[in-house]
Formats: sequence, structure tokens, C-alpha cells
Amino acid sequence: MDDLSGKVALVTGAGSGIGRGIALACADEGMDVILADVQEGTAQAVAAEVEAKEVQALAVDLDVSDTVAYEWLAERVYDQFGELNLLVNNAGVMTAGPVSQGSQADWHWTFRVNLFGVINGVNAFLPRMRAQDGDAHIVNTVSMAGLRLNEQIPLGVYSSSKHAALAYTESLHDELATEGIGVSALCPGGVDTLIGMSERNRPNEFGGPSDQAARGFSPGMMSQQMNPEDVGRVVIRGVKANRRLIFSHPELRAQVERRYQRIMDDFDFFSQQD
Ligand SMILES: NC(=O)c1ccc[n+]([C@@H]2O[C@H](COP(=O)([O-])OP(=O)(O)OC[C@H]3O[C@@H](n4cnc5c(N)ncnc54)[C@H](O)[C@@H]3O)[C@@H](O)[C@H]2O)c1
Repeated sequence: MDDLSGKVALVTGAGSGIGRGIALACADEGMDVILADVQEGTAQAVAAEVEAKEVQALAVDLDVSDTVAYEWLAERVYDQFGELNLLVNNAGVMTAGPVSQGSQADWHWTFRVNLFGVINGVNAFLPRMRAQDGDAHIVNTVSMAGLRLNEQIPLGVYSSSKHAALAYTESLHDELATEGIGVSALCPGGVDTLIGMSERNRPNEFGGPSDQAARGFSPGMMSQQMNPEDVGRVVIRGVKANRRLIFSHPELRAQVERRYQRIMDDFDFFSQQD
């Protein structure tokens, strides 16, 4: 999809961080943008920034784990905009701490947003995207945590959810290639967002919200990271080129190599005779 101008994008988790950066980058390309977020009022605030770029914006409250709300949203989007050209399943939460200490609530909440939130978005929109005449592309925000294990902070629960989201996204990329629908996994490293404060959105059934930073995180730590608006521009580049993976942090290549080298070391061990 070379020319995004006049096309329609939907971004989940658009009220903050990377979602906001992607929404603004879409607007810069001349796209109309639907902004969805679970945190009340945040999508509305970013919608005002999008509208200032002289494109249409629609802000909606949406919990990506709610399949009924997703179905309703898909109907509304197609009624109002006629088609959806770019679906960005970006909403995500981070839980931190030793993987052996992850609670049932941590596992269920993290997977419900980071994996099932992505699947729900695809399930709600893909049938309609398949039926439309216009171009269609799906971006799922994964993470470098889908490709490597964090060497500084224990993020095993989060990383497990992102590995699953990456496998899902790559499978979808291959499946939809013959239909001309692009699929990309966005894999950022550290970005200056509120991800370290994800607990603010923890639902009551999983322990309720808190203003505590995730274990091992401090707000100052995030401010040394990449600007989310720069990530938004990288996403546009990846969509235009229909890349399977979109990398915003090429300097992290060595960490992926180290991870795969450890895997290769075990292959080599078992290929040797006793
Ligand atoms: N910040 C980083 O360093 C980093 C790195 C790699 C990947 N990511 C991923 O980027 C994505 C965006 O995170 P971010 O860093 O911008 O964090 P953020 O906390 O600033 O933004 C996440 C947004 O998702 C929304 N959200 C949370 N749960 C939701 C739900 N159930 N339904 C709808 N919206 C929900 C939040 O309200 C928030 O607006 C996530 O998938 C995250 O895992 C972030």
C-alpha cells in the first residue's frame, strides 16, 4: 500500500505512547483515523491532535478483550467510513517480575490484552477487509520481547505473551499473502511511553488498577528511550513496504543473534556424538 492518503486507519491503545505516535503518523499521511482506547478520555484527546492535521478522527472507548464491543465497532466503522485500510492492533500491557512468580491474574490479564486483544481485532475486521475493494493491511504491535529474553529486567510473562503474538502475526502474514492483505509485526525496543505504568489499566477482576510502576521500572527510565512519534513514522515505512517485521531499534540486532546462538548451541550439542 504505497499511497495512504485518503485511506482509513484504526489504532487501538491510541490514547497514549506508541498508539498515539502511530495515529499521528497516519494523519500526517492524510489518513482518517479511528482511535480506540480503554482509558476513558485519552483517545478523545489524541483525536483532537489528529483532527488538527485536517483529517477525520473518531474516538471510541474500547476494551480489546471485549469481542462484543469489537463487533459493534466494526459495524460502526464500516457504516461511517465504508472500509478500513489499516488495522493497528497496538493496545498492550506489561507485567514484570520473575516468571515463576507470575500470578494467575498476571498471566490471564497479560494474555487477554496482548494476545487475545490482537486476535479479537483481526477476527472482527478481517472478514470485512477481505470483502472490501480497497487495500488492506494489519499491523500488530509485538515487541523485541517477542524475539529475545530481556537481559536487564525479568519480563517472562510479558515476553511469553509477545512470543505468542509474534507467532500469530507471522502465521497470519503467510496466510494472507496470497489474498494481497499485508500483515506486519511491529517489534520495538524501549520507547518513551506509559507502558511501565500499565497497572493503571488492570481490571478489577485481576486485582484492580494501581498507580505503582511495574517491578524494575521507574518513569525516568522510560524517558531515555525512543520517541513514540518516531516509531509511528517507522510503522508507515514498514506498511508501505509490506514488511513481515517492523524494527524501530536496529541496534538491538545483536540481542536477537545472541538468543538464536544459544538455540544453535543446543542443536550443535545434540548433533555431536557422545
Ligand atoms: N514502550 C515500550 O518500550 C514498548 C516496547 C515494545 C512494545 N511495546 C508495546 O507497544 C504497545 C503500546 O504500548 P505503549 O508502550 O505505548 O504503552 P502505553 O501504556 O503508553 O499505551 C498503551 C495503551 O493501551 C491502552 N490499553 C491498555 N489495555 C487496553 C485494553 N484492554 N483495551 C484497549 N486499550 C488498552 C492503554 O490505555 C494505553 O493508552 C503495547 O502492545 C506494548 O506492549 C512497548
